[in-house]
Amino acid sequence: MEEKEKKDITISLEELSESKPVECLGEVCCADTGPPSSVITLKIRGRPDDLRLGQPLIIETEKLLYYTLIMRLYYPSNELAERLANSPFTGLLPPPQIEGVRGKEFYGLADLGCLRILPSKSIEELEYQELMRQFDTIPPIFSIGRDASEEEFQIIYKTTEYSDPIGKLRGFNYDVPIDFKLLVEKPYGLFGRTGIGKSILNKILCLYILKHNVSQLLLFDMQGEYGLISRSDKTKGLAYYFQERIQIYFLGEIDKKNKVIDGSEQLIIYKDNILSGDIIASAQNLNEPSINTLILIENLLNDKILHYDNLIDAINNIKTAEVQEHRLNNLSLGALRNRIIPFERYNFLKKRGDSKREDSIEHMFKKLLEGKSIVIDFGKYGTNTHLYLFVANMITRRLYRMYSQREDETLPPLVVIVEEAHKFLKSQIIRHTIFDSIARETRKFQLTLAFVDQRPSQIDEEVYSQIANTFVMHMNDDKDIKRVIQTLPDSKKWGGIISGLQKRQCFARGDALAVASVVDVLNYKDEKLMKKLLGIKKPLSETLKTIEDSDLTSLGNNR
Ligand SMILES: Nc1ncnc2c1ncn2[C@@H]1O[C@H](COP(=O)(O)OP(=O)(O)OP(=O)(O)O)[C@@H](O)[C@H]1O
Ligand SMILES: [Mg+2]
Repeated sequence: MEEKEKKDITISLEELSESKPVECLGEVCCADTGPPSSVITLKIRGRPDDLRLGQPLIIETEKLLYYTLIMRLYYPSNELAERLANSPFTGLLPPPQIEGVRGKEFYGLADLGCLRILPSKSIEELEYQELMRQFDTIPPIFSIGRDASEEEFQIIYKTTEYSDPIGKLRGFNYDVPIDFKLLVEKPYGLFGRTGIGKSILNKILCLYILKHNVSQLLLFDMQGEYGLISRSDKTKGLAYYFQERIQIYFLGEIDKKNKVIDGSEQLIIYKDNILSGDIIASAQNLNEPSINTLILIENLLNDKILHYDNLIDAINNIKTAEVQEHRLNNLSLGALRNRIIPFERYNFLKKRGDSKREDSIEHMFKKLLEGKSIVIDFGKYGTNTHLYLFVANMITRRLYRMYSQREDETLPPLVVIVEEAHKFLKSQIIRHTIFDSIARETRKFQLTLAFVDQRPSQIDEEVYSQIANTFVMHMNDDKDIKRVIQTLPDSKKWGGIISGLQKRQCFARGDALAVASVVDVLNYKDEKLMKKLLGIKKPLSETLKTIEDSDLTSLGNNR
């Protein structure tokens, strides 16, 4: 018995000596809850360049723990330093007690933004979460700042049944989980400059949405990235992992001779479904008189005063006498005709009666009811922004109508993901497009919008304010940075964090994750990891194996 006790003591002593002492990174020298702005200032004890913007730190007190992010790093103005700099004395100064700081006269400061306050250690984990609160008090002066522990991260980043990690907290080996059920409930936005990793992160989000089965998706895929294999960078698409859950529609001819390995349907739209808003969205800069003329022609068609099969035919063929009778502006009519010239070349636009097939949007609706998600692959039209805007507006508008008309039935929740979102959502045209209504009527008809965009500053302010979760990657333009941080509390201080992001990193915030975080997005090219995260245990289907064995690029080349 005595022996055992002795052993126990030895073990606990060993454990004690092994447990790493907490490294004090600095002490609090100033704090302010605001208004106008809130901050905790830490006098840095070591090298300032061991710390980094966006890094989490804990301020520890006996009563409370303050979970903070570093928002600003700087040296206070120091007359002595100014006098000594560039003088021979700098080399003669006593060897730095602290590397990089040069004696006690010189030190760096870190401004911290407090995201959560939690009770100090002695309370049960469950209560921790309930007791977490916003920054509503200040820590005592000289409180210690240190790295957060694994346990503390676990408490902050609570996981749920619907959560999965989009990557690791930057600089830490700790997952940042997103709750995907919460994510799909309100509009979300993914922003960043070109080539920075938006599409890949979007794929990761989409795959998790599919995994958790919290919503179906409608994706307008300009560059052919989301289907089976990306045509632009050969990374795997959504259908690669969830083939049976995706229906792809393709704009343009599908060569019958080539086996359609990804199950694509050719997209067909009847011209009589085109409405004025589709043309306005597509043209982007129609002036007011042209918009009025367009709407007037549409009204005359609806009231059966003009007799043409569809709006396009009416614009092209309206007779001079009709123009005069209804006082249509000839100049505007000319401008409209110019805008719709390309429509004649689009093979997927058919006159009703010319094709026996059902309109793809009706087909799509059936597929949605079967539980499928939709990818619309623009094929060779992918670089044609006007066409993209036209098709995306038209499809979304009709699905929205179907959804809003069938309120009685339980329709599957749907996230409509739009790239180049600002082109639909800029103030001048938004009231003519369908996206305005959807963004405002958040989730009313089970439809949610997701925006992927390079220019958030050009999105209508009111619509932008509906976005509940944002994933921000690196951006250069100050206006864009300003727009994404304007919805954050104490907005100014987030700017540095966003400008400092690198490729594949994102700043994520919103109600689908515990606290705002800088994330190293996971490596999407690691297929083994993706399969593990997506819970895909079974081997690839025969079809996918065939693709695996063959040249993956052939899928893109024959289109
Ligand atoms: N999480 C990631 N894992 C692996 N590779 C990545 C990741 N993010 C980005 N990349 C690499 O960076 C490239 C560009 O990423 P992506 O296509 O997502 O950028 P983008 O922001 O969508 O660009 P664009 O503005 O042109 O649409 C990818 O082709 C891929 O090689
Ligand atoms: Mg992209």
